[in-house]
Amino acid sequence: MSKVTVVGAGAVGATCANVMACREVASEVVLIDIKEGLSEGKMLDMYQTSTLMDFDTKLVGATNDYKKSANSDVVVITSGIPRKPGMTREELIGTNANIMKGVIGNVIKYSPRAIIIVVANPMDTLTYLALKSSGLPKNRIIGMGGALDSSRFKCYLAKATGANINNVDGMVIGGHGDTTMIPLLSKATVNGVPVTQFASKKKLQEAVQSTMVGGATLTKLIGTSAWYAPGAAAAMMVEAILNDQKKLIPCSCYLEGEYGQEDICIGVPAIIGRKGIEKIVKIELTKEEAAKFTESAAAVRKTNNVLHEINAL
Ligand code: LAC
Repeated sequence: MSKVTVVGAGAVGATCANVMACREVASEVVLIDIKEGLSEGKMLDMYQTSTLMDFDTKLVGATNDYKKSANSDVVVITSGIPRKPGMTREELIGTNANIMKGVIGNVIKYSPRAIIIVVANPMDTLTYLALKSSGLPKNRIIGMGGALDSSRFKCYLAKATGANINNVDGMVIGGHGDTTMIPLLSKATVNGVPVTQFASKKKLQEAVQSTMVGGATLTKLIGTSAWYAPGAAAAMMVEAILNDQKKLIPCSCYLEGEYGQEDICIGVPAIIGRKGIEKIVKIELTKEEAAKFTESAAAVRKTNNVLHEINAL
């Protein structure tokens, strides 16, 4: 028996719930939103796919009623406004920080033992806010960004190399921002073989650039931010937690000296299992990558400082 709640029934939250339902990741999935009827409607619609998709996950929709989320093992927080074309994720902070504060209180009131996955943007800063305002131990608050950014990196590496996408391995660390994320080309492979053997330096650099603006590209195409990969990335993390998979996933973790940083949530490789963040994995970075990580942390910290300016912390 396991229960997952997704807060926010927008496109990302609903997709995350849908992926979890179809994969039968949990026995019960609850979707909560402030908009009257939205969650109930989406979960009823999803329930009606049970016989078509061959799953029997219990699906519950609720309008702002956190009692329905009680005793969740994992809670995914997607609530907040998405970015519009031309906006950065950082510009969302004023509205989304306030939403996060309200949500996190309700989440831990009803699910005091839950592991929390933060999806809402600016993701690293909202992960930090969730951690600081809840007082929960650092292993229980995880930001989703690196999981998503790494899946986008693999997509662009597959395009650049012509390799089967499931043979491609690649990792993105640093902040979840257009200029702060760091796709690690030095670690990217096609089934263990360095990607440099399959594509020119120029093509690989283009893959890095496309990854960094991956979210913005989709926002421009669709008119709002993306949802299939963000929703699936969060669902994959939930699965790693509930099944104690000990997967190595780049994600936003609270650092206390690791990678030369402290008092910050930022993307690093971590082992994700039943206890949430079970271990931060130290990997060797090139000099250039290490310098980028320091710059990225400074940028994330700048956004974190806004939390004080708007009295969110
Ligand atoms: C994106 C948003 C979810 O990158 O941050 O699509």
